[in-house]
Amino acid sequence: MRKQIAAANWKMNLTFHQGEKLLDNILKADIKMNPHQYTVFAVPFPYLLMTRSEVEEEANYYVAAQNCHHKKNGAYTGEVSAEMLHSLAVSYCIVGHSERREYFGETNAMLAEKINLCLQYFVTPIFCCGEPLAIRESGTQNQFVEAQLKESLFHLPAETMKDIVIAYEPIWAIGTGKTATTQQAQEMHAFIRSKLAGQYGPQLSEEISILYGGSVKANNAGELFACPDVDGGLVGGASLQADDFIQIMRALK
Ligand code: PGA
Repeated sequence: MRKQIAAANWKMNLTFHQGEKLLDNILKADIKMNPHQYTVFAVPFPYLLMTRSEVEEEANYYVAAQNCHHKKNGAYTGEVSAEMLHSLAVSYCIVGHSERREYFGETNAMLAEKINLCLQYFVTPIFCCGEPLAIRESGTQNQFVEAQLKESLFHLPAETMKDIVIAYEPIWAIGTGKTATTQQAQEMHAFIRSKLAGQYGPQLSEEISILYGGSVKANNAGELFACPDVDGGLVGGASLQADDFIQIMRALK
């Protein structure tokens, strides 16, 4: 079975102590992941080491960064490289979150560079794609998402493509409380998988996990994750409450 992943994206929330307490409360619930199930905590950079040491004894719990820089190293004050993440044994990195695209001007071409560096340093990218509301309303969301995949991922050879996790996050659903319907999520996930199959063959396309993100909550995770092409979630707001995130972890297939 494909990896099923509950990924928490804390964004720029929580103090260090609040973050520690949240992790403690989640770990106290002692939820055992099945071998194909993973929990990932994408935390602010200063909390990476603390989070890694909190989860390192737990099977299939991992730490992620929320971003990395698109250049390898050098005079980029304030930035963090994929190599640095690797040196801290960080397993995953979110790449191309819509907030980074929108507020920090990240382009599909820059994201391709980030993807390459993450893979070079054995950090698994969680590549985010998804359309804004106007595109959804015009009915051109498939073309929009296809361009994101082509321009940031489809240069990869199959050997490295298999290490990618994709997160489909319709921008109109992020932080708005407006979730995509299960039908909208399943349709787009199946479309993404069909594009992966076209580029890399059906077998590889079946191995790639595609997470849904955008107002995943304790009360809708079960039905979203039950969709055949939805392999878990990338969760913002609801990952900041232990009880909510625990229920989302429990909802994994
Ligand atoms: P949300 O955020 O769950 O608060 O909508 C999801 C995300 O941006 O990853």
